[in-house]
Amino acid sequence: STIDWDVVGAEIGDNAHFLIKEINEQPRTIARALSGRLDERFDTAHLGGLNLTVREAREIKRVKILGCGSACYAGELGAQLIEDLARVPASAEPASEFRYRNPVVEPDTLYVAVSQSGETIDTLAAVQELQRKGGRVIGIVNVVGSTIARQVDGGIYLHAGPEMSVAATKSFTSTVVAFVLLALHFGRMRDLSPSDGRRIITGLQRLPDQVSEILQNEAHIAEIAKELAQASSVMYVGRRRGWPVAREGAQKLKEVSYVHAEAYPSAELKHGPLALISPEMPTVALVPDDELLDKNTSTLSEIKARKGPVIAVAHRELPTELADRTIVVPRNEPELDPILLSIPLQLLAYHAAVALDRDVDKPRNLAKSVTVE
Ligand code: G6P
Repeated sequence: STIDWDVVGAEIGDNAHFLIKEINEQPRTIARALSGRLDERFDTAHLGGLNLTVREAREIKRVKILGCGSACYAGELGAQLIEDLARVPASAEPASEFRYRNPVVEPDTLYVAVSQSGETIDTLAAVQELQRKGGRVIGIVNVVGSTIARQVDGGIYLHAGPEMSVAATKSFTSTVVAFVLLALHFGRMRDLSPSDGRRIITGLQRLPDQVSEILQNEAHIAEIAKELAQASSVMYVGRRRGWPVAREGAQKLKEVSYVHAEAYPSAELKHGPLALISPEMPTVALVPDDELLDKNTSTLSEIKARKGPVIAVAHRELPTELADRTIVVPRNEPELDPILLSIPLQLLAYHAAVALDRDVDKPRNLAKSVTVE
């Protein structure tokens, strides 16, 4: 398909920074990731570039996802989606770790390399190591014709347009959308029911408007970000699908605002980091209204008992005993909620960076793509 450079282009226009421009582009970039790929006749996804026959795809026993930084966090969500929808065991790992540990490469594993730029050296080296050992690799890549896109055996392009700011935003959400499509595609050739396929498709179609709704809440999120910018360290917690969202949220805050942040799976708090919780250390908590809501609210109680300030991202306003601030996001299907939960965390990081007068689009010490060792 053709990229409409005027709509999602490389010009900053009247935006203060590329980062906020790219955050605000997400209703359109998500729509583009979906464009032409939803098959409503068979309640599945159509992915033309995978280069896998149905029979080959059915023989896949495992999926291993590799990437760096935000690409790896998106891959962690991708692994959960593939397990949930296709019931194929899946995991994600930083490409740099994989390439240096003499990995066991299996013929019935599908390897997925994730890279916005398609030029990250560790991800490329992982692909080459895999191919040298006979592994089948597909790519989830944004930049058309990039080195990784040319190297892989097939793949999915994001079509998100150029991402200029160093911190990944629209490429993160589009990568997760690409994984939903891949999981739906594999799921529907296995045991995912037509009605579940339809449920996911309907949910995907609702995403762009729901992202717009969250973006309209920017002023409220900016106020909370100003408070967050005063902290010297911030904890991010989530469970299950909320856990990679927490990791990505902490990464965003660190890289653009230089405020220290770390992410923990909620249940791990009591195994160490709870010792850090105090009135000086706020926690950003992902609290979707799903089957783990009770578990998540008890985590909030543990934090409040230590007088830790809590900022919750949730599907409804939480009582002040549990959260000092709530950012309410619209609800979708549980599999798709992480995409929506990640948007406020991007806005929190952006506005914290602005409040601290940071070099938002070009944070110190970082490069958009790391192409040398
Ligand atoms: C750099 C960027 C990150 C990005 C990572 C992977 O470290 O600062 O924002 O997530 O590279 O980049 P890629 O282009 O491979 O997705």
